[in-house]
Amino acid sequence: MRIALWIGLAGCFTCFAAPVEVERQAEYLRIILQQADEAYFNKYDSIMSDVAYDALQSRYAAMKAAYPDLLDIAAVGSPVGDDKLLHSKPVLSLKKAYSDDEVVAFVKKSGAERFRVEPKLDGLTVVLSYQNGVLTRALTRGDGDAGSDVTAAILASGCAPAVLNNGKPATLEIRGEVYMPFAQFAALNERRVREGLDPLKSPRNTAAGSLRLDDFAEIERRGLELAVFELRESDLMPATRTDMMLFLEELGFSVVAGETVDAPNVLSAVERINRQRASAPFLTDGVVIKVDDLSVFAAQGSTARYPRGALARKYKTIPEETTLLNVEWQRAESGRLTPVAHFEPVRVSGAIIQRATLHNLNHLRALDLRIGDRILVTRAGGSVPEIIGVVPNQRTGDEIPIASP
Ligand code: IVH
Repeated sequence: MRIALWIGLAGCFTCFAAPVEVERQAEYLRIILQQADEAYFNKYDSIMSDVAYDALQSRYAAMKAAYPDLLDIAAVGSPVGDDKLLHSKPVLSLKKAYSDDEVVAFVKKSGAERFRVEPKLDGLTVVLSYQNGVLTRALTRGDGDAGSDVTAAILASGCAPAVLNNGKPATLEIRGEVYMPFAQFAALNERRVREGLDPLKSPRNTAAGSLRLDDFAEIERRGLELAVFELRESDLMPATRTDMMLFLEELGFSVVAGETVDAPNVLSAVERINRQRASAPFLTDGVVIKVDDLSVFAAQGSTARYPRGALARKYKTIPEETTLLNVEWQRAESGRLTPVAHFEPVRVSGAIIQRATLHNLNHLRALDLRIGDRILVTRAGGSVPEIIGVVPNQRTGDEIPIASP
């Protein structure tokens, strides 16, 4: 016994056993990161934004670097019965650019004369196949090679025509983004709060999660929409993206609104569409620029991950710093207590925010907040106020621990 104990202790020293407080903090982090993974991968109901998730993950990684004997965060398994089906051809991603210079370089390098510029919708990419005008299959993008079958859910949602209008090609495959407009998202969250459930964080993950529901009446009620931006396959193929969009509209699809401009006007179109994003009734996360002429686009080919003839101009939302004033415990109708943080008002992407839900005790503990802390806040999914974490190395020692309810 004693020998075993000594070996155990020696083992701990060589691998820097974490102090009890660190171990406890790590435990909270593991719990909420696992919950976040579970929600994201299996329920598509994200409980925090990507920014907050990344912040907590890197916090855990830093703790683990200091104390390597901390447990790994358990991986979540795939939901049962979610067999992936192969796409007819890979569903590629888009190359990202974070500056205007990259946009200018892309336009110059491509050598094309005209470009299609559109908002980049932040939803769930789906690929729909039609045979003789009838919807036969709807797949999520998945890993780009194979996706999940969501045909029944797409039909239930009513966001895509089940049968195409006249002039229909014998075979047709389109790609678009399923999304939940802000108004529908707000209505759903109001309903959830009334029922004592946590509000959902982002319209994006909620759209994705909605397609996984078995309850078709609920899917319909959620008001999902589909905006189409690509004709992947058709026995009638237009010459340009501009004509492609018109053709898709004639067939009965809603298409992504955009502009077709000459090369010298791409940047101003990108800026215009970026400004319009703020008032768009749906979530967007950038602007897409695509070579308009489809034969030029095809000739440019693609890398393993993205087509060379398209670029996504993305914009970073920078989290804002503020001071945590108070944490109040609110009782939901279900009787559950929820911690709500109040902080000094701060402007984040156009709106002043001063409070954010902390969801539950574990979440509060994982963030390790104290009253008086300098904190980083953002708006998850572009709207819901969210605390990402404490600004490092700013504590004075005067901060006050948060009392349990
Ligand atoms: S074009 C050439 N246009 O963004 C065709 N994609 O990060 C390639 N997305 O999964 C896509 N809005 O599904 C295009 N207006 C838009 C889009 C758009 C959203 C999605 C796309 C892809 C992701 C890339």
